[in-house]
Amino acid sequence: MPADTLTLIDNRTAKTYELPIKDGTIKATDLRQVKVDANDFGMMTYDPAYMNTAACKSRITFIDGDKGILNYRGYPIEQLDEGSYIESAYLLLYGELPNASQLAHFNGELLERVELPAFFDRFFDGFEQHAHTMSMWMAGLAALSAAYPESRKVLDATVRKEFILRAIAQVLTLAAYAYRRGQGLPLIRPKAGLGLVDNFVHMLFEKEPHPVLVRALDVLFILHADHEQNCSTSTMRLVGSSQADPFTSLSAAAGALFGPLHGGANEAVLKMLRQIGSVEHIPEFITRVKAGEVRLMGFGHRVYKNYDPRARIVKQTAESVFAVTGKNPLLDVAVELERIALSDEYFIKRKLYPNVDFYSGLIYEAMGFPADMFTVLFGVARTSGWLAQWEELLGDEDQKIGRPRQIFLGEGKRDYVTLENRK
Ligand code: SDX
Repeated sequence: MPADTLTLIDNRTAKTYELPIKDGTIKATDLRQVKVDANDFGMMTYDPAYMNTAACKSRITFIDGDKGILNYRGYPIEQLDEGSYIESAYLLLYGELPNASQLAHFNGELLERVELPAFFDRFFDGFEQHAHTMSMWMAGLAALSAAYPESRKVLDATVRKEFILRAIAQVLTLAAYAYRRGQGLPLIRPKAGLGLVDNFVHMLFEKEPHPVLVRALDVLFILHADHEQNCSTSTMRLVGSSQADPFTSLSAAAGALFGPLHGGANEAVLKMLRQIGSVEHIPEFITRVKAGEVRLMGFGHRVYKNYDPRARIVKQTAESVFAVTGKNPLLDVAVELERIALSDEYFIKRKLYPNVDFYSGLIYEAMGFPADMFTVLFGVARTSGWLAQWEELLGDEDQKIGRPRQIFLGEGKRDYVTLENRK
C-alpha cells in the first residue's frame, strides 16, 4: 500500500522531503522546511483568491462543482426544498433534521426574538430615502453589535446560542425596516402567531401575502442558506477568527456579499436584462460579452462547472410565482439568453452555466421587491449559514486568528530623506 506522503525534491538543493498527505491535502506549514539555506524563511504557497486552498475543515455543506451537487449536512438541496427555511437553518446549525417538537421549539425560540431593540424605530430615519437597502441592512447589522455588547463573549457557547437565535430572527426584521425606510413607509411591527417568513412578508407588505409567494420565498431562503467557503462565508470566518462578536462578523460578511461578483449579482442580472431589453438584442449583447466588454451576470461560478442545482429549482419556483403574479416580461429574455449561451462555444469552453442569481431577481421583482432589496433577501437567508460556519470555526481546535502571508516585491531598506533634500 503506497504511503500517504508526497515526496518533494528541491532541485535548488537536491534535498528530498516527505510530506504527509491527509484528507487529500498537505499542510502548507509543512513546506516551511523547504529552504535553500539556514536564513531562508522556508517555502510558502502562492494562491491569490484562494483558488486551491482549504482554509478549514467543515461538516456543514458539500458541493461537487463538476456534478452540480449541493448537500446541507448530507441532504441534497433538491430534497430539502420540500421543507422549510427554518428546518434547513436548524439542520445547518445543529447537524440533524429537527423532529416535530424540535422544529416547533426552534420556531418559538426565533419568534420570541424577532423584535429589534427600541432604538431601531428611529435608526433608519438617519438615512436618505434613496439609500441602498443593502447598505442600510449592513449598517443595521453593525448597530446590533452596539445593542448587544454581551455578544462579545464569543467563547461562551450559551452566549453564542442566544445571539445566533437573535441574529437569525432579527436580520429579517432589520431587512423589513430598511425596506420600509427605502419606500418612505411607516414601520410595521412583527405580528404574534405568524411563522418567521410569514412575519417577514407581513412586516414588508402588511397585506395578507399570497401563500404561493410566501412558499416561494421560503424555498429561495433554503437555496441561499449556505454554500460552504464562498467569499462572504470566508469573510465571516476570517473576522470571526479575531473573536469579534457575531454581529460585527455578520456585517463584514454582508459587505462581501454586496459585491456584484457575489451576492450583488442578482440585482446586476435584472439591470443586465433591462439593458438587453428584448430577445432581438441578445446577439449584440453576447458579442459584447465575448469581447470582454461586459459579463453575463448570473452566469459562471468558481466551483460549479455544471448547472448550479439551485438555479434549476429557482427556475421551477419562478413558474409557480408567475402563475400568481403574471409573468415577468424579462423572463423571455432570460430564457432565450440561457438557451443561446448554453449552445455557444465561448460559454461551453469556459463551463459557464446559470448560477443561483440568474433567475432569482426575476422572482423577487415579480413579488414586488425593488432591485436594491434582492441582495438583502440573499443575505437574510445566508445569515443561518454564516452563523453555522462561525459556530464551527469557534469550536475547531485547528483554528486561530487568520493572518495570510505575502510575497514581498517592494523596495529593500532605504534611508529617510528629509523634505528639503528630496528632488
Ligand atoms: C455567487 O462562491 C460561491 O459559492 C458564491 C455563491 C454562493 O452561494 O455563495 O454561489 C453566490 O456569488 C454566485 C456567482 C454570482 N456572480 C455572478 O453571476 C457574476 C458573474 N460571474 C462571474 O463574474 C464569475 O463567473 C464568478 C465571479 C462567479 C467566478 O469567477 P472566477 O471563478 O474567478 O472565474 P474567472 O473570472 O477567472 O473567469 C474564467 C473565464 C474568464 O475568461 P478567460 O479570461 O479565460 O477568457 O470565464 C470568463 C472569464 O472572462 N467568465 C465569464 C463570466 N464568468 C467567467 N465571461 C462572461 N460572463 C461571465 N459571467
